[in-house]
Amino acid sequence: MSKMLEETRQQPEALSRTLEEASDALKKLRHRFERHRPKLVILVARGTSDNAAQFGRYLIEITAQIPVSLAAPSVVTLYHSELDLSDALVVGVSQSGESTDTNAVLEDARRRGAVTLGITNEPSSAMARICEYALFARAQKEESVAATKTYACQLMAFYLLACALGGKVDPEALRRLPDQVERALRLENSIAEAAADYANMTRAVTVGRGLNYANALEFGLKLMETCYVVAERFSAADLMHGPIAMVERAFPVFVFAPAGVTWPSISYVLDRVRELRAQTLVITDSTNAEAAARGSRVIQLPDAVEEIYTPIPYIVPAQLFAAHLAAIKGLDADRPRTLQKVTLTM
Ligand code: F6R
Repeated sequence: MSKMLEETRQQPEALSRTLEEASDALKKLRHRFERHRPKLVILVARGTSDNAAQFGRYLIEITAQIPVSLAAPSVVTLYHSELDLSDALVVGVSQSGESTDTNAVLEDARRRGAVTLGITNEPSSAMARICEYALFARAQKEESVAATKTYACQLMAFYLLACALGGKVDPEALRRLPDQVERALRLENSIAEAAADYANMTRAVTVGRGLNYANALEFGLKLMETCYVVAERFSAADLMHGPIAMVERAFPVFVFAPAGVTWPSISYVLDRVRELRAQTLVITDSTNAEAAARGSRVIQLPDAVEEIYTPIPYIVPAQLFAAHLAAIKGLDADRPRTLQKVTLTM
């Protein structure tokens, strides 16, 4: 069995630990933000961590009403622009805490007087040393190159950060997440069966909207790095602005479809791709009966989850799907060709 699969299954405990062990860090952050509320949040990350940052962007803007931007590291590392970071909170997100350009942006931000926070799985990493504050993903060592449990814990860390910024996040709902993930993991056999139908897939699109856009990015990344599928990743809105033209009969389309504010937009995409006779796999839960009737295949989580809390349980079927598809294709999900666990870019 791949480490990727093992680590995917470890997520309930990893999420509980991340939640339980954050109280001191949260107190410090809350205290700091009560004295001085940032006017802008800048997130800096690469790869899976960057996908988690996309989630953080939506979550903070929706719950705490602070504008969030995603850093373009080359602006600092290659163009050496002297950004005005007064009143900014700069947040680095990194599983390893060793991504070079992410850390270079954080070092520069701290020099310029920004409040800096590192969200990382490695307390002894360079990122934890560089930043004034840290919020740890308590996923324990992640050995597979393909990140899984660290992504879920980074999303949890963003809920905690949103709380510290005064955002409306329900701590009870966060405490329910590990059990919801546990129940999502029980769908593994049917997900493995579904993956078997995709053994010859070479291209695909993944689609999400709002808080689940990050999951579309992450599912696509998992398909690319572990299964070598060319996966284009879209918000439901962006798909309609051109890329829908490449969807044809039997084209694989993977859609995150929670109930709530994003459903009308997702529903429209599902109607369009059905007309085009695409091969659609829908990930949803028991609150969205309409979505359950709309895909060629549906993975329905048993829990009723409010849209804001869907991204963590919804990524689980995607991780399981990618891990099983890689195994079906005879690929080593833990050691994708040409990749290392830590990637050094500037
Ligand atoms: C994908 C993956 C990579 C890393 C990226 C950043 O599964 O693991 O995309 O997320 O190389 O690494 P960290 O998070 O260590 O900064």
